[in-house]
Amino acid sequence: MSKAKESLIIFDTTLRDGEQSPGAAMTRDEKLRIAKALERLRVDVIEAGFPAASNGDFAAVQAIAAAVKDSRICALARARDEDIRRAGEAIAGAAAGRIHTFIATSPVHMQAKLRMSPDEVLERAVAAVRLARQYCDDVEFSPEDAGRSEEDFLCRVIEAVIDAGARTINIPDTVGYNLPDRFGQLVANLRKRVPNADRAIFSVHCHNDLGLAVANSLSAVLHGARQVECTINGLGERAGNAALEEIVMAVRTRADVFSCDTRIDATQIVPTSKLVSTITGFPIQPNKAIVGANAFAHESGIHQDGVLKHRETYEIMRAEDVGWAANRMTLGKLSGRAAVRARLEALGIHLDKDALDMVFTRFKELADRKAEVFDEDLQALVNEDLQEEQAERYRLGYLRVCSEMGTHPEARVEVLVEGVAKTAAAVGGGPVDAAFKAIEAVAASGAQLLLYSVNAITTGTDAQGEVTVRLQRDGRIVNGQGADTDIVLASAKAYLSALNRLQYPQGRRHPQI
Ligand code: KIV
Ligand code: ZN
Repeated sequence: MSKAKESLIIFDTTLRDGEQSPGAAMTRDEKLRIAKALERLRVDVIEAGFPAASNGDFAAVQAIAAAVKDSRICALARARDEDIRRAGEAIAGAAAGRIHTFIATSPVHMQAKLRMSPDEVLERAVAAVRLARQYCDDVEFSPEDAGRSEEDFLCRVIEAVIDAGARTINIPDTVGYNLPDRFGQLVANLRKRVPNADRAIFSVHCHNDLGLAVANSLSAVLHGARQVECTINGLGERAGNAALEEIVMAVRTRADVFSCDTRIDATQIVPTSKLVSTITGFPIQPNKAIVGANAFAHESGIHQDGVLKHRETYEIMRAEDVGWAANRMTLGKLSGRAAVRARLEALGIHLDKDALDMVFTRFKELADRKAEVFDEDLQALVNEDLQEEQAERYRLGYLRVCSEMGTHPEARVEVLVEGVAKTAAAVGGGPVDAAFKAIEAVAASGAQLLLYSVNAITTGTDAQGEVTVRLQRDGRIVNGQGADTDIVLASAKAYLSALNRLQYPQGRRHPQI
């Protein structure tokens, strides 16, 4: 009889570490939508935010704790009393909660950043875990920058925090410095050397600076880690975190190698990935494993022939198992309100009557221009409507662009600035450039354009283009999105959405200070 698999806990930190990607800041409602999608994906733990960072973060964690029932809700806190209290209050309403507290243990962090001695760090760590246990039975501790910490010191700290009540010990490779063999060995050594290691679950949290986050995490799993911290699409600080979809599918596809498995519903991977991409404005590269548009596409004739004869010749996973096929349900211009509502609900989007009216009107406009409306189109419509509902300073009144071979394109816009119509015209190197210049003539934001990208939401020439615009002003970076079958219009909407986001209050500090 085959041995039952152990559980590998999937801890998703898209809403916390993922949000630390420049430009990925999300509103409370956006975070709630992602949290519900993560719950449908069946992640075990959702790190919902860092409540001490701002009142907005606190409110988002609190709202997620109230709304999500089937995943544990975790709040991050530095090893400081005030952070831990905020974290404890934010998750008080959760069906199952966790406080995740951390302090750096590497020589460079202790000396240059914390200016604390190793003994002081150890004392702070223990005090933080004890206080966290007063709010919650489930406490996780991370020795930040463990990947560059001295092993003997790590052993001392870990033993002490387990004695103080930590149930999960997370080993972060904070700067993505480790190599798979060495990192796996570190986890094995800690599990062997720490006398009370059997009273905690070992976890890993790997950054992708050398492109090794997933490899390092999997190596740690082979050496006994039973929780992996990861994000959808590998979003996260700098080069990002280990990608959830890659971890889950590696463990499942190579069940011959791994003695553990997750409870993830893999058919939710692609819809969740698309939702995160749409909300954050971080497009998915076509060749991205599992969720990239080309991940299951076979171009070469030899490969196509092979797959047609026997799928396993060139495919190690089935596209439908990770949610590609589940998305092919379409609506059209004859579809009614009930069908649209049912499809939205199947996607986990529950709208009140007014919001549904608004989305339905937009749906009808879109269906007039586009033969088939896919789930991704609906997601984009809802995303735009929700963005507009947030206090918007700028709204597009109209846009006219004239583009003719051999001439410079010209754009005319009307922008409603707090309800007051203002018009401007500009010429540009292309129609999008002209539209942006005309908008900027009205808004005079002085923002610098860092990124402009267009992605077709679905296939076909009538597909909606989904545009991301990233702007920077005074050191602040924001992303805006717009979607339309007309990509110049989508671009103008994205530019205005980014300008509107620049108006939101900042209120966010970096948690690793
Ligand atoms: O990368 C890191 O070290 C972190 C910790 C807060 C776990 O994000
Ligand atoms: Zn991190």
